[in-house]
Amino acid sequence: MTLSRRRFGTVALTAALATAYGRPGRAQSPVVIKFSHVVTAEAPKGKGSLKFKELAEKYTEGKVKIDVYHNSTLYKDKEEIEALQLGAVQMLAPSTAKFTPMGARDFEALDLPYLFANDEQFAQVINGDVGKRLFRSLQPSGITGLAYWDHGFNLLTANKPLIVPADMQGVKIRISGSKVADNYFRKIGALPQILAFSEVYQALQTGVVDAGENTAANILTQKFYEVQKHITIAGHSHQNYAIIVNSTFWSDLPADLRAGLDKAMAEATAYMNSVARQDNAAALEVIRQTGKTTIHVLDANQRKVWRDAFQPTYTWAEGRIGKDTLDALLKATAI
Ligand code: LMR
Repeated sequence: MTLSRRRFGTVALTAALATAYGRPGRAQSPVVIKFSHVVTAEAPKGKGSLKFKELAEKYTEGKVKIDVYHNSTLYKDKEEIEALQLGAVQMLAPSTAKFTPMGARDFEALDLPYLFANDEQFAQVINGDVGKRLFRSLQPSGITGLAYWDHGFNLLTANKPLIVPADMQGVKIRISGSKVADNYFRKIGALPQILAFSEVYQALQTGVVDAGENTAANILTQKFYEVQKHITIAGHSHQNYAIIVNSTFWSDLPADLRAGLDKAMAEATAYMNSVARQDNAAALEVIRQTGKTTIHVLDANQRKVWRDAFQPTYTWAEGRIGKDTLDALLKATAI
């Protein structure tokens, strides 16, 4: 991979510093893992990152120090992946909808509309062969996947009720990165636009975009409900995180430290998944009680209308996502 210093100036500089500072194997000082993510410390991923820090430092007896950077304070969406590849940061937890720039297009299959029936099915699929296959596809990018974190289903937010697909006509909707989401929203006449997570509140407030899709916990902790009058629970897409590390950094770690980190990650994953479920339910209730946003829950018949409208995206995806991945995913999610 050739990277021009001009294009990656700041990131390259921090990469050099990180290499000097956090390199594994130094005798005295702890190995430092910078763990960067884009949500607040109070959001499920924030809580999961702090749980990992606590456990990782405990299981490695202080030989590894985890510096967590919440809320895009270190990097925004796109920069963080470049930074990981360059070694300026060692660990990230992006949503898998943002993996396209790594050339890992197959992750987009997880964004297919109405793919997962429920969280249990998502867990089964992602922890099985499909999840492993997707992680293998990251290897050529110098990235290793450690775990998947389940952030639950996205809700639609807007300043008008979104009850039928035709309500999306001409609506400018913020998406986080997936070409699959771009495709299914375009299919129903919406105008999707990729924006970094840290820019969404302002974009909604100023009308750069009219709508978004996110989990209840993110809608609460980023205060999107202050600038969106309606929420629709349509069950149309699922938000998945993958915990990823720089492969060189990871394989250079002494095996005993890696074992401690793996154990910490397994426990932090279980914690995060249960916290996300609780927090999403609680967040929806808090939002409802503010009285600022009306919540619409679509019933099975209404969802079927959306599902049918999005269906052409499945055919489109055949030309974009590897056939093996697509077949495996569709087989695993067939009810
Ligand atoms: C988004 O950009 O909407 C999400 O991926 C943010 C996150 O990481 O929860």
